[in-house]
Amino acid sequence: AQVVQAEFVKSSVRTEDCPSDGLPEFALVGRSNVGKSSLLNSLVRRKRLALTSKKPGKTQCINHFRINDSWYLVDLPGYGYAAAPQELRTDWSKFTKDYFINRSTLVSVFLLIDASIPAKKIDLEYASWLGQNQIPMTLIFTKCDKRKKKKNGGKRPEENVSDFQKLIRGFFQTVPPWIMTSSVTNQGRDEILLHMAQLRNY
Ligand code: GTP
Ligand code: MG
Repeated sequence: AQVVQAEFVKSSVRTEDCPSDGLPEFALVGRSNVGKSSLLNSLVRRKRLALTSKKPGKTQCINHFRINDSWYLVDLPGYGYAAAPQELRTDWSKFTKDYFINRSTLVSVFLLIDASIPAKKIDLEYASWLGQNQIPMTLIFTKCDKRKKKKNGGKRPEENVSDFQKLIRGFFQTVPPWIMTSSVTNQGRDEILLHMAQLRNY
């Protein structure tokens, strides 16, 4: 399930503009700064394939990266960036939601949640929306290498993860699969790639 080849293909602003070759794809979504680009780079073992945005919340694009010439990883702009103008934020949710609902080759959304801090309301809202719309989802907990800190609620990543899972239980008919990761130690990398391979073969 390892990545031997990865290349940036295109940025699209609308679902209709996305690649039309029918290859299966997985979308990385989550709050700005949760570690989407870092995770993508960790999965493909490249330092800067996905650009780390200097202006979080400003990117309005769906970025397709073709992996091993046979499937896509899709980097989406982060949500919840407080400094983004309201108008931009509404637009953002409209276009990503359209993508989730209408992109027929989307195998699963990978929702990234920061395990180093307590659950955020916006993440719960997002998970709830995905559940209500029955979008296939995998939960990816990021930054699991971080130690607990008082200013971050004083809980270990494992505790934040189990709290989050309790909070979203009611949103789904079946509990979504979940993986704990770190882009610093590469924890979870093989597990994610294996999980994606299994999902592609269904
Ligand atoms: P936007 O592009 O703004 O939406 O953010 P993003 O989700 O792509 O996050 P990005 O990958 O740019 O990472 C944000 C910050 O978190 C960076 O400073 C990363 O170095 C850091 N970071 C990402 N993943 C990890 C991780 O697993 N562990 C630790 N300790 N830091 C991480
Ligand atoms: Mg990014």
